[in-house]
Amino acid sequence: MSGDSDNFFLNKYCLEDVSVEPIDRGPIRFHRRIPGYCASPLRRLEAAERELGVRSVWIKDESDRFGLPSFKVLGASWAVYRKLIEELGVRDEDWWSLDQLRERILHPPGLELVTATDGNHGRGVARVAAWFGLGARVYMPAGSAEARIEAIRSEGAEVIVVDGSYDDAVAKAAGETGPGAWLIQDTAWPGYERIPTWIVEGYSTIYHEVDEELARSEEPDPDLVIVQIGVGSLAASVVRHFKHAGRQERPKIIGVEAGGAACAFESVRAGEERSVPGPHRSAMAGLNCGTLSNIAWPLIRDCVDAFAVASDEAAFEAMRMLAAGGIESGESGAAGLGALLEIARRNRKVIEGGLGLGPEDSILVISTEGATDPEGYSRIVG
Ligand SMILES: Cc1ncc(COP(=O)(O)O)c(C=O)c1O
Repeated sequence: MSGDSDNFFLNKYCLEDVSVEPIDRGPIRFHRRIPGYCASPLRRLEAAERELGVRSVWIKDESDRFGLPSFKVLGASWAVYRKLIEELGVRDEDWWSLDQLRERILHPPGLELVTATDGNHGRGVARVAAWFGLGARVYMPAGSAEARIEAIRSEGAEVIVVDGSYDDAVAKAAGETGPGAWLIQDTAWPGYERIPTWIVEGYSTIYHEVDEELARSEEPDPDLVIVQIGVGSLAASVVRHFKHAGRQERPKIIGVEAGGAACAFESVRAGEERSVPGPHRSAMAGLNCGTLSNIAWPLIRDCVDAFAVASDEAAFEAMRMLAAGGIESGESGAAGLGALLEIARRNRKVIEGGLGLGPEDSILVISTEGATDPEGYSRIVG
């Protein structure tokens, strides 16, 4: 029973024994030294447990990371820190407070961080620039919600809205960099891989926290992880954390994309990398990306067990279910849960047969953002 349909399929290319490089504890050690660090909450969602017939559905709630409403700052901060170490000779043992670190950064005056974003990553980069006393310039696609633009400006960054899609904004940002303007992009292409690799590593703080919390409460490791895919960096971090050979229990992974921007879904189904050209109009702004990061693609192709596409309505319904459970989750944040519930409602056998889940199993869902567009959020959740 595979349950394959136009919005779900099991990955026949998925490999059992693939060599995946684990991510060490460097990023979480770094994040713990930043003022305001706090592990994000891990909460159970009983309504989803009842509906899916599993032991537990854990929601990792990323609606407040260092005071920002998404997980993205974890990647940007680790990448900028690694770049500072490499370019400016900052050493790990030289600082124990952010003020001290700032003093150690004898960067050239006017050094700027440049990036493209559909919202969350750009805000993370802008915040990190402020931490380290650097400038920030952020490119955004046409049609970006005013609230998301203003949120980035409020971090002190310059925002430029380009006449085009997210992928056009990335191309624009990449063309505007140089020795005094570092590109901090969360997607990779041939020749630009170092920074995106560090960004992937930075996200691992999320899963180290999950492992610690589950161990502390003597709960079993997850049997299934649901992860949203935009350019695939978050999914790459999930794969590197949960599928490396040293891990005893390796959960299944479902990658969830937005309707109209399902480049991983299309690529894996075709057996070769495919782009999905814009405009991408789903309400899940963070997932409106038409091209996968080239470092994420092989990890996704070989190690993500199933792919799903979320409709806007499925994401909205999950937002309401999460809100009823006390968790604020935006459109992209709720898309993973939304897709899973939609698939199960259409064809229940996918849960037991296709994914092999039963009443003793547990699911980890990453709610990757809070209400990043508050007006949209209150319209949907009420
Ligand atoms: C809230 C949210 N969730 C998920 C994602 C997907 O992450 P990635 O682009 O690394 O696949 C993004 C990307 O911007 C996002 O903003």
